[in-house]
Amino acid sequence: MRHSGRVEQRDWDELRSAAVEVMGRAYAPYSGYPVGAAALVDDGRLVVGCNVENAAYGVVLCAECGLVSQLHASGGGRLTHFVCVNGAGEVIMPCGRCRQLLFEHGGRDLLLWTVSGVRPMSEVLPDAFGPDDLAAVAPTPDASTSTATATATGGER
Ligand code: THU
Repeated sequence: MRHSGRVEQRDWDELRSAAVEVMGRAYAPYSGYPVGAAALVDDGRLVVGCNVENAAYGVVLCAECGLVSQLHASGGGRLTHFVCVNGAGEVIMPCGRCRQLLFEHGGRDLLLWTVSGVRPMSEVLPDAFGPDDLAAVAPTPDASTSTATATATGGER
């Protein structure tokens, strides 16, 4: 599915179908809540992911983790359009952690099919912290020295 900025409803429907298909391969024996995610990349590639759980519950990989891994494993680029679905094929919202993950790889303009329609990431994760925030502050040459200095001077609490 190639796109040149213009994505029609039928493209969204295809994207959702891809999410439903990969949801069928989720490994979710503990929650019983399979998730599938699909996204378009700025060069027209389609990337997908499903959730993969673990007996150590906290080790769960959300569907978005697999999707972002496939993004990089297949050549990188920027995510432009995204949708994720539950076991019934219904559109769901990405969890908070995964909004952050998606923001890193799609930025403010990434379009998401959400429970309230198609919305940009700037609305789904407003005022997001991201790579620009790191770039805005010059790195400290020696973090341990600056912490010691802050403590010695009473800190900044
Ligand atoms: N899950 C995802 O894969 N993505 C989300 O954005 C929401 C939650 C998964 C994690 C866990 O395997 C199951 O859904 C229940 O939380």
